[in-house]
Amino acid sequence: MERTKTGIPGLDELIGGGIPKGSNVLVAGGAGTGKTILTTQYLYNGATQFGEAGLFVTLEGNVRDIAWNMESFQWDIKSLQDNNMMTIYRLNLVNLNDRTKAEEKIEEQLAEIEREVKEINAKRLVVDSTTVFGAYLDPSVLRTTLFKFSDKLKDIGCTTLLTSETQPTKNVFSAYGVEEFVADGIIAMYLTPPNRSMFVRKMRGTTHDKDPHPLDIGPGGITINPRDKIIWEAIK
Ligand SMILES: Nc1ncnc2c1ncn2[C@@H]1O[C@H](COP(=O)(O)OP(=O)(O)OP(=O)(O)O)[C@@H](O)[C@H]1O
Ligand SMILES: [Mg+2]
Repeated sequence: MERTKTGIPGLDELIGGGIPKGSNVLVAGGAGTGKTILTTQYLYNGATQFGEAGLFVTLEGNVRDIAWNMESFQWDIKSLQDNNMMTIYRLNLVNLNDRTKAEEKIEEQLAEIEREVKEINAKRLVVDSTTVFGAYLDPSVLRTTLFKFSDKLKDIGCTTLLTSETQPTKNVFSAYGVEEFVADGIIAMYLTPPNRSMFVRKMRGTTHDKDPHPLDIGPGGITINPRDKIIWEAIK
């Protein structure tokens, strides 16, 4: 099986060498657990270590904030953008709450994502975060739209990380209870002050480690310690 290495220290070995190529993986966690950092690091590593271009689709903040976040780790994304190894795209969901237009708008944005992917021949895709859909969509259309969105992303041919902001409850992996079922994998991230941790909740198509491990955010970004285990009861 072909795998997409994240290059995030400690992570690939927990999932048998990398994410099965073409998967949609949910990166789930509460506020400030490191979801945006992990996903940008995935794209940065893809470009700098594996020669794979990446598209970062943001639904929150603005494009400058993302660039700023990456620069705080001395990840020089400007040159990656200049060399067509990375694109940051701000998804436009305005007027989505009009039920008749929601479907059309999603189709339109998916087509735009596809166009951006093709433009740089991206192999890696990030959507940060799916939770923001809830701010635009009526609950009655939210589930079907999210389902459709994830499903369509699979056709684009990238290995995709989708983030989902959860309440700080350790057994909940998405805001709407849909994302975790459509995703092929789930990487759960926790912050139990002062400790950060993560575990692989599922990864279709591969065996994977099932223990929670310590996670650190340092000057070089995220590192995971696969040797040390954290007992589940210690996570809140
Ligand atoms: N340069 C840095 N060095 C160490 N830690 C940092 C650095 N930059 C940010 N952090 C830590 O990472 C956290 C933010 O991580 P990130 O933005 O990835 O979280 P998130 O899960 O995406 O949060 P949100 O739910 O708000 O989107 C900060 O709250 C801070 O604790
Ligand atoms: Mg974030």
